[in-house]
Amino acid sequence: MTYDHYCNAGNKGDVWKHVILLSAVRNVLRAKRSPDPFFYCETHAGRHSYTLQERGGWQSGIGSINCIHGALMHHPYFCIQGTGTESGSIYHGSWSLVAEYLRSQEISFEFILCDLSPQVRDNIVKHTLQRPEEETIDFRLADGFSEVHKVPNRPDIIFIDPPYYPEPEHDWISCQNVIGYLQSRHFPFLVWYPIFDDAQPQSLVNLAGSPGYELIWDVSEDNSTRTMRGTGMLIVNIDMIDETTTTDLTDLAQQLGGRFWLRNA
Ligand SMILES: C[S@@+](CC[C@H](N)C(=O)[O-])C[C@H]1O[C@@H](n2cnc3c(N)ncnc32)[C@H](O)[C@@H]1O
Repeated sequence: MTYDHYCNAGNKGDVWKHVILLSAVRNVLRAKRSPDPFFYCETHAGRHSYTLQERGGWQSGIGSINCIHGALMHHPYFCIQGTGTESGSIYHGSWSLVAEYLRSQEISFEFILCDLSPQVRDNIVKHTLQRPEEETIDFRLADGFSEVHKVPNRPDIIFIDPPYYPEPEHDWISCQNVIGYLQSRHFPFLVWYPIFDDAQPQSLVNLAGSPGYELIWDVSEDNSTRTMRGTGMLIVNIDMIDETTTTDLTDLAQQLGGRFWLRNA
């Protein structure tokens, strides 16, 4: 059993994580002083993009957002991905959103992307070959949790996005281990997590000593710990608390039928 992100592309969790990821990139860019290319590393990269099928999680995610207001209209995610999504539309994966955003800002970049899937490798190679610019994308068909220990220089952002499937416990423990390592190096990083109960997300937040930015949706009738009740992004060593980010996320959570919750250590 392997994980394929196709059926989840564009769902609520994806929209939430991709908006936060691009907010983080935007904030890091604002603070970046060095002229070096933007150095981004993603441990569980997934495909460049996905063609949305007739049915799928995207319908209650990007497919439910037809109209955005205020600051969100200028958010890099919506500038790239747009709204009014229908079946057959293209949904961008995380690293291709980051790449598109950096190109739009005329920032050169270097990426290290890891994934264990040969299909994902073929997809990434196909898309990167189509772009002969100076940017470099180094794809590694390898375990992202191990590969992160080999990152040569200080990255601008590392993104950890495991599937928590088919072995959720393995991924939670690997996240705990990698948080300890990345904190010891003072690297800026993000970790995506699903919310089934409070214990696992709280353990990541406590370990990192940094907040989790969560979208909580209502499952009040259902007390099963197997039901996903939200999604979160742990953000570490990146300055995020500004009014724009909070307003954007409060609005976005409402659009996605949930509420924004900041989980603190
Ligand atoms: C949640 S998806 C990634 C989605 C992508 N980051 C995005 O937001 O568009 C998880 C990916 O991790 C890959 N994967 C699973 N286990 C892995 C591992 N140990 N190391 C690297 N990649 C892994 C899967 O093949 C899948 O493409």
